[in-house]
Amino acid sequence: MCHTFVSRALSELSLRARGPLGTMCCVNRKYRPLDFQVITSLKLDKSEQLTNVLVTNGSGGVGHYAVQLAKLGNTHVTATCGARNIEFVKSLGADEVLDYKTPEGASLKSPSGLKYDLVIHCTVGIPWSTFKANLTPTGKVIDLTPGGGTVLNYAVNKLTFSKKQLLPLIVVPKAEEIECLVNLMKEGKIKTVIDSRYPLSLAEEGWAKSMEGHATGKVVIECER
Ligand SMILES: NC(=O)c1ccc[n+]([C@@H]2O[C@H](COP(=O)([O-])OP(=O)(O)OC[C@H]3O[C@@H](n4cnc5c(N)ncnc54)[C@H](OP(=O)(O)O)[C@@H]3O)[C@@H](O)[C@H]2O)c1
Repeated sequence: MCHTFVSRALSELSLRARGPLGTMCCVNRKYRPLDFQVITSLKLDKSEQLTNVLVTNGSGGVGHYAVQLAKLGNTHVTATCGARNIEFVKSLGADEVLDYKTPEGASLKSPSGLKYDLVIHCTVGIPWSTFKANLTPTGKVIDLTPGGGTVLNYAVNKLTFSKKQLLPLIVVPKAEEIECLVNLMKEGKIKTVIDSRYPLSLAEEGWAKSMEGHATGKVVIECER
């Protein structure tokens, strides 16, 4: 378990659940409960051959874990984020960082010309054609923000037997995965970066902050004791 790339559970450590979640449950029934272990095959112990990984939105509540987890494997990690967070995302371990507001960032092209074996997609608004152009022949995109376009492209890829894949992922956390992640934290292998904290009484403000989409790391709602 601990040797697999399990950001699906980490993403659920957030107290947020916005976006078009739920859309893909029926489409990806094959993987239910959806499992990064099954989908990515990315090991966290550096025992595998080098994998080129792209994390979109490496500065967000989900992506900042994805970058760190990916770097536990034998990987070269490219990540996207806004200009203000480039150094932050590098500090998480990313080898290359693209500013998503530049033409280079929008194209997702790796500065070193690498094609991606695996993309952990943690933002919205990037068309499949952009991913496709940057994937290795058997590359796959794990889409954490699946919407209608994902459904359509997933179906088209299946029907055309495309080796490049777009796979929706809806998090269904399991206790043992959370435990594994907590252990990784205790071992100092990953960390949680907190953008801001709100007491439960100000949960609405915290929610609004989260929904703005400009947090660096997590927005936390703290339960009062
Ligand atoms: N599938 C699942 O089970 C699951 C679970 C949890 C969350 N999610 C989804 O995952 C997505 C990410 O959630 P999150 O909580 O990590 O987001 P988040 O924390 O709100 O992300 C905020 C960050 O995104 C950056 N950003 C905004 N647009 C970007 C773009 N086009 N490219 C790269 N970076 C961009 C912002 O940078 P600037 O401030 O510089 O613009 C900011 O640092 C959401 O859509 C959420 O619904 C899915």
